[in-house]
Amino acid sequence: MRLTRRTSATVAGAALVGLALAACSGGGSGDDNTEGGSGGGDEVEVFTWWAAGSEKAGLDALVGVFDEQHPDTEFINGAVAGGAGSAAKDLLQSRLQAQDPPDTFQAHAGAELQDYIDAAQIEDVSDLYDEFGLTDVFPADLVDRVTAEDGAIYSIPSNVHRANVVWANPTVLEDNGIDPAAEYADLDAWMADLETLKAAGVTPLSVATTWTQVHLLETVLLAELGAESYTGLWDGSTDWEGAEVTGALEKFETLMSYTNTDRDGLDWPEATQMVIDGNAAFNVMGDWAVAAFEEQDKALGTDFIAFPVPGTDGVFDFLADSFTLPVGAPHPDGAKAWLETVGSLEGQVAFNKAKGSIPARTDADPSEFSEYQQTAIESFGQDTIVSSLAHGAAAPVATLNAVSDATSKFTSGGSDLATYQTELAAAAQG
Ligand code: GAL
Repeated sequence: MRLTRRTSATVAGAALVGLALAACSGGGSGDDNTEGGSGGGDEVEVFTWWAAGSEKAGLDALVGVFDEQHPDTEFINGAVAGGAGSAAKDLLQSRLQAQDPPDTFQAHAGAELQDYIDAAQIEDVSDLYDEFGLTDVFPADLVDRVTAEDGAIYSIPSNVHRANVVWANPTVLEDNGIDPAAEYADLDAWMADLETLKAAGVTPLSVATTWTQVHLLETVLLAELGAESYTGLWDGSTDWEGAEVTGALEKFETLMSYTNTDRDGLDWPEATQMVIDGNAAFNVMGDWAVAAFEEQDKALGTDFIAFPVPGTDGVFDFLADSFTLPVGAPHPDGAKAWLETVGSLEGQVAFNKAKGSIPARTDADPSEFSEYQQTAIESFGQDTIVSSLAHGAAAPVATLNAVSDATSKFTSGGSDLATYQTELAAAAQG
């Protein structure tokens, strides 16, 4: 299935940057460090990893709405570079443990958020749902993923992304005798074309540093195991040491053999750029990638194509960003102002148009979004939803870190497949 609305069939399946305040949190007039306190409405330090490129453009769009809605609160950009929070999450943890929280931070809905809840690092923001009229505007399943066992809600979602997408350059495909309209039933069918590209001296599949390899791995597990068994990897009902997982890891190993060798020095924008520039044929990346294509005026269907990772059609590999109110935030009123903008229809429309994601709110008008995003809105409404590992929905941060270490070791030649599988099984046990 192509992710384009051109035909009706296509929708059927349907480093630190600007950390200016780190040293002075707790300063400023009106500060109040009590839990869930008030005061500090004069500014807000917003901690994200949207530090550059299309991700920063998304953040900038949200800040534009924030400045209109809260002109008296100064936005302080606490973004830390590194895709998927690869550097930000460790730094955030150090700050939280040092009682030096930002005023609000980006956290993935699901298991990752639960980590912060369990560590008592973030506040219950249920009252803000009432105050801002948010109780009914998000899908119930999404609210569940930001809710603790006691029913308290701990963050406000800004968006929903899809992880299981292949991005391709149709010119590179055509030049190598591959039909850009080809539909691949499974990974094997796709890998036949990857082989053709490799033989022609073209980089078949671009990938970047470890987190993007884990991202690729999760889509391979999903393709090979199917939605139910993939989900079972996270609740203990699927055996990590079983033959199904071995088979998937073999596919992952083969796929990695089609990737660029300079991968470990790159982050996602460079890997996606290889496809944009025609230096690689395919890239597996979440749909923040569409913002990179669109930012460079590339058109879906002609300059690039997108389709679910072969073997995952009809499944939406889900993740959502959300924003929190940390315990001891120096500017809780500033944080609440930010959260109001994050949850607002105007904020969600502006942000998601630039970010490539779809609004978490259900009342946004799909026609305001790009052709690709309209397919994502439709898929999110009808596909089977599974949780992303690489982006905090499926498993706690400790599990993801252990999976990442095992993956990095394997893809850099430091372990064989059997060892890798054993290490993954251990990682999943926490
Ligand atoms: C994800 C995040 C997305 C996007 C991506 C690449 O974890 O949820 O919003 O930023 O990382 O950095």
